[in-house]
Amino acid sequence: MGAATVRLDPAFTVGPVRPRTFGSFVEHMGRCVYTGIYEPDHPGADELGFRTDVAQLVRELGVTVVRYPGGNFVSNYRWEDGVGPKADRPTQLDLAWRSVETNQVGTDDFVDWARGVGVEPMMAVNLGTRGLQEAIDLLLYCNAETGTAWPDRRAKNGHTEPHDIRVWCLGNEMDGPWQMGHKTAEEYARVAEETARAMRRIDEGLELVACGSSNRGMPTFGTWERVVLERCFDLVDHISAHAYYEPVDGDVDSFLASSEDMHRFIESVVATADHVATVKGSDKRIMVSFDEWNVWFQERFHGESSLEIREAPELIEDVYDVTDAVVVGSLLITLLQHTDRVSMACQAQLVNVIAPIATRPGGGAWRQTIFHPFALTAAYARGTVLRPAVHCDQVQTKAFGPVDQVVVTATHDPETGDLAVFVVNRSRTESAELTLDVAAAVGGHPTAYALVEHLQVHDDDTSASNTEAQPDRVTPRPGDAAVVGTDSTTLTATLPPTSWHCIRLTEGTVQ
Ligand code: AHR
Repeated sequence: MGAATVRLDPAFTVGPVRPRTFGSFVEHMGRCVYTGIYEPDHPGADELGFRTDVAQLVRELGVTVVRYPGGNFVSNYRWEDGVGPKADRPTQLDLAWRSVETNQVGTDDFVDWARGVGVEPMMAVNLGTRGLQEAIDLLLYCNAETGTAWPDRRAKNGHTEPHDIRVWCLGNEMDGPWQMGHKTAEEYARVAEETARAMRRIDEGLELVACGSSNRGMPTFGTWERVVLERCFDLVDHISAHAYYEPVDGDVDSFLASSEDMHRFIESVVATADHVATVKGSDKRIMVSFDEWNVWFQERFHGESSLEIREAPELIEDVYDVTDAVVVGSLLITLLQHTDRVSMACQAQLVNVIAPIATRPGGGAWRQTIFHPFALTAAYARGTVLRPAVHCDQVQTKAFGPVDQVVVTATHDPETGDLAVFVVNRSRTESAELTLDVAAAVGGHPTAYALVEHLQVHDDDTSASNTEAQPDRVTPRPGDAAVVGTDSTTLTATLPPTSWHCIRLTEGTVQ
């Protein structure tokens, strides 16, 4: 049994909880769009062809912003094919995923869906097979007032009001040789600079995301960010980071410590961005858009070239277990721990393709295990992210050396007095006895806390997962946290091995 002592003080803060931390990603890939969010023949489809059962789960997940339409797909996408009367839209071959793209869902449809489920759309432009002109055209189509050709075409397609999309990604993973139109850092920096400049001429207030590295192991990592930002520093607000985690060669201990990689990734990108700021003599702070992250068993994927050309194929539909949910929960903790520099994050993807929501064509939709830590964190992280002081045992990992057994973050909402503590025990074998000291004074007044709820994702069978037949095999269940002591400022809980926890407290002044 390990021990973990956590001290919280609402005065020690990292930064605000950013709603966009709880973003997701819809790519035209596999069954994310077709038979995922969209299935006009489904008994539960709405008048636009979107599945209402999926929309309901998206709302429950608490997603705030959704990146679209890719991913690798965007780098060979002709957005014009996806607007206008559906019967007139051409069927194309998507080379990114060797799939038949019917274009029955496109920009307007996606925005309709996003507004309907109450999420902010975030758009990516194709800087792979296309470039500046098409990016401008798409921006005008989406955001300009009517009176010129592109927005008039939007109006003709049923959308008189501009879509007013605020966040735009300048391409996708342009550092990766797998990307259609892959570029060197210098080549990409030049295209991104010119595209950003033109887009800003249309709307100075857009939020632009430059492509960063596809993962921390890329040979160009660090240099890529420096070169891109040296050129685009004044023109962009965010730089992207992408990371997918899996147990490499069966190494589950390192897998459970994946948040270590994400932490180092963010720190390195921030250091590089701030180095560029220093050289430029600027106080501007470029933010990290962690706009693709998740667990993905890439060892099981044999590459795009191995794919048979099909329409809406079952592609990387990983089934997640308890360990995966705990890892996802710890990655969310890391994102919150870096809320001062991570402006947004998108779990990749939303439905079917490495996703928290799974569907069967014509059938049901259900929550994968990883749904639960996301939904609870999105629901209860409010106000300000605190900087806890943590003392705990360590676990040994091959990939990262010794790491803390327990990772923790907490948020405090000064409006309501609510405190939410998110904790993971990343040991596979040892429980941890948690002692949480919340004996801080808020505004000079000693504060007592009452436990609202302690939910945990844990199962003695860490390989347990959810299916359509057993959709609640793994679901959050009550933990044993209790507020102890006469002044109600200490909480204890047992954290079983491989477990994720959401502990909610509310404050009241000690009499
Ligand atoms: O999310 C799946 C793929 O992973 C995306 O298309 C790409 O951007 C990344 O490599």
